[in-house]
Amino acid sequence: AMNNAQLAPQQSLTGRTHFIQSYAKINLTLDVLTRRADGYHELTTLMQTVDLYDTICLSETQEPTISITCSRPELATEDNLIVRAVQAVRQRLSLPQGFMIELHKRVPVAAGLGGGSSNAAATLLLLQQKWQLPLTASDLHEIAASLGSDVPFFLVGGLALCEGRGERITPLAPSWPQSMRWLLLLKPAISVSTAHVFRHLSPEDYSDGTSSRVVRSALEEGIELRLDTLHNSLQRGVLERYPEVAQAREAMLQVGASHVFLSGSGPTLFAPFANLTSAFQVQQRLQAQGYEVFLTRANYPQGINA
Ligand code: C5P
Repeated sequence: AMNNAQLAPQQSLTGRTHFIQSYAKINLTLDVLTRRADGYHELTTLMQTVDLYDTICLSETQEPTISITCSRPELATEDNLIVRAVQAVRQRLSLPQGFMIELHKRVPVAAGLGGGSSNAAATLLLLQQKWQLPLTASDLHEIAASLGSDVPFFLVGGLALCEGRGERITPLAPSWPQSMRWLLLLKPAISVSTAHVFRHLSPEDYSDGTSSRVVRSALEEGIELRLDTLHNSLQRGVLERYPEVAQAREAMLQVGASHVFLSGSGPTLFAPFANLTSAFQVQQRLQAQGYEVFLTRANYPQGINA
């Protein structure tokens, strides 16, 4: 009822347009525990959304088709996760209408930042919230998990512990540490396949989950976080097999980042800073070397529980 009241009078039932910001994430920790029989890996990972975002604009059309346009035309395809999210909802609810999708892409693609997964979750939230479709939180979670392991996290956003293959979400309410007030994200100019990175894990890369446990309790209890407790089981293999990523990491350390970690399966690296001036200076030095670098902060978007 509240959403109805917010509709402007000129908006008719067909032709409604709504937009949403779709945030990137980083993995503060990513502990790979075991390889499962289904080929996926059992994880514990702490994911945090950051204020780097794509904008998704969804319009209802009378023709029962789905179309997509994108600021990066190569992403405007039928297998785009936004298209698949809309299709999944249309099928489940037998919706008669079609949708036009417009995507303004800012988050690097295949980067370890969850861009595509975030787009899918944001689309599900948009359909549920603005079109007021009869989808429960558990329906959304089920559709999200069917689209990818990282998608359910983005229904919640903020900081969460993600377990299983990543789809089991525990939202956390941290007191965010000073030492991570600013987050510099560097995207090396290569793409990395997530499946490939997982397939090439070495026995030594598996973890007992200590890093996620220690970082979680530090964040929740407000104990000052030791940055060297952050850990990513996928980092060693990625640095070894992709020299561009190892070089970029060295460059970050050389120009003043004290700690640098891989996000997800990479290739994006992130470095936390307590101080804006230092973060900005390091960003400028890296940009002068030709690197793509984003200066961001952790954020708490309105998710499904908001
Ligand atoms: O779930 P999603 O399709 O995003 O995962 C992409 C690939 O990453 C999977 O096909 C799998 O190879 C790998 N993966 C994994 N264990 C996970 C998540 C992803 O092995 N927990």
